[in-house]
Amino acid sequence: MIRRKIAAANWKMNTNLQEGIDLYKKLCGLTLADDVDIVICAPATHLYALSQIAGPEQVVLGAQNMSNEESGAFTGEVSGRMLTSIGVTYVVIGHSERRAYFAESDELLGLKLKTAFSHNLVPIFCCGEALDIRKNGTHVSHVISQIKGSFKNLSPDEVEKIVIAYEPIWAIGTGETASPEQAQEMHSEIRKHLTEAYGSTISNVVPILYGGSVKPANAREIFSKPDVDGGLVGGASLNADSFSAIINSFN
Ligand code: PGA
Repeated sequence: MIRRKIAAANWKMNTNLQEGIDLYKKLCGLTLADDVDIVICAPATHLYALSQIAGPEQVVLGAQNMSNEESGAFTGEVSGRMLTSIGVTYVVIGHSERRAYFAESDELLGLKLKTAFSHNLVPIFCCGEALDIRKNGTHVSHVISQIKGSFKNLSPDEVEKIVIAYEPIWAIGTGETASPEQAQEMHSEIRKHLTEAYGSTISNVVPILYGGSVKPANAREIFSKPDVDGGLVGGASLNADSFSAIINSFN
């Protein structure tokens, strides 16, 4: 079964506009594997400017968050309609930093997923456990319950279009990476859940990315696992050379 390979960059709240433009231009100028979709999730302030820069077809833009609301009195929020109007095609939903610092619940994230789909944005839905949950051995049920909690109102057609990113919180920005075996275990459990809930035709096409201290030194081994279809990369995506090394770590 052919699943898309995806290398997604999560710049988080880093770079000013000029730095973001410089980084994006460097990336667009590199020789990139053409069978890998590259999603640059830049700060919202940068997305329009980046959309005006010509780049290879496989490089597309993503937002790091969006509102579940359509429009109106929601000061500071960014809507799906705003994002699509500037050519953004992906949106990260439910990053652990949004869950932890902005109290985003499974239920709210379910609403955001619905709103993203209604604007034809592809959500990169993040899930993952904290260290205490990993230590007490309930990480699989925790992650599956995050997925169940946010997917419950999605139609099978919507689930078929989603991208999932498994990001163990203890591995994000810490330099500590899940082992390729730990990533594979969780990814295969997620796929098993999708098969049980939606059938294998759907579960076989949903890309599941790993995130958490992905670096040029560990990407190849992680990406070689059968249920790992790419990465969501934070720190190492802020440097064009290291991100391009990660992009070239498939196969
Ligand atoms: P990291 O971040 O690669 O810096 O660990 C990943 C993420 O939070 O998406």
